[in-house]
Amino acid sequence: MAYRSWLFVPGDSMAKMEKAAGSEADALILDLEDSVAAGAKPAAREAAAAFLGRPAPMARFVRVNALDTGLAEADVAAVQPAQPDGYVLPKCAGPEDVETLARLIDAGGTGGQPILPIATETPRAVQALMARDWTHPRLVGLSWGAEDLAAELGALSNKDAKGRFHSPFVLARDAMLMAARAAGVPAIDTVYTDFRDPGGLDAEARAALEVGFAGKLAIHPAQCATINQTFTPSEDSLAWARAVVAAMEAAGGGVAQLHGRMLDQPHLKQARALLARAGRD
Ligand code: COA
Ligand code: MG
Repeated sequence: MAYRSWLFVPGDSMAKMEKAAGSEADALILDLEDSVAAGAKPAAREAAAAFLGRPAPMARFVRVNALDTGLAEADVAAVQPAQPDGYVLPKCAGPEDVETLARLIDAGGTGGQPILPIATETPRAVQALMARDWTHPRLVGLSWGAEDLAAELGALSNKDAKGRFHSPFVLARDAMLMAARAAGVPAIDTVYTDFRDPGGLDAEARAALEVGFAGKLAIHPAQCATINQTFTPSEDSLAWARAVVAAMEAAGGGVAQLHGRMLDQPHLKQARALLARAGRD
């Protein structure tokens, strides 16, 4: 099933993790990476493991540190006994990094958890999105980030004055979407950092939905309701989908019409995907 809202929570803050457990997020991402200062990593690992030991109503993933930091091994070792529902892999450079993390997770025995890579954080990763096949049995989706990529590019900003991503970041996002759909997994849109601007969040989430994204990362609990609503098929779109399936079945062949518009196999595929998404619960 595709989670719609994925809420980041700094792993060194028990107060925020407890607050997040009461949010509407479909999944939490307990962060051991960029929101945790270097000196606080050991305490964050312990706090995240303790939080995982208590019940919570949603899925809980852990974002480990990047593989090349030398910290990921200790991150996994600390939280894996508490059995998170999955892992988020930042600065993922290619499918081989997914395999490396999967092996780390499984090393202790009770592994098998799914992995959500953040797959656009370096120029090399963006090249790999178009060049490689990212299919992997542990992939639960692909997501992207514009902050680290901006730093790698030497960019001054990732958005223009109107709040639209500059072209290199649109390229990265689109490449990630292609790689995700080619691998048959959900595409998850990046964070909207201006967390006091619900209108801007709504517009960005809608634009992502329109091109095929299935969910969005969040940084604040208040963003989850908007994201969930955007990525839940509306009654109108479900009515359209049911009408398409009925029209195609009635026509009994490859082509039909609905309200004067031609329907063929791609429309049927879209309609079935919408109905499947609605049946997620
Ligand atoms: N998870 C859980 N609780 C959160 C939260 C989050 N991501 N973001 C905010 N809250 C809590 C706050 O602690 C506060 O709780 P309180 O009322 O009990 O004190 C409440 O929600 C309201 O927060 P607000 O005052 O609006 O924001 P803030 O200034 O406290 O926090 C951020 C702003 C950006 C620091 C915070 O949203 C945050 O830590 N986000 C996640 C950052 C992160 O993980 N980044 C890495 C991925 S990009
Ligand atoms: Mg980062």
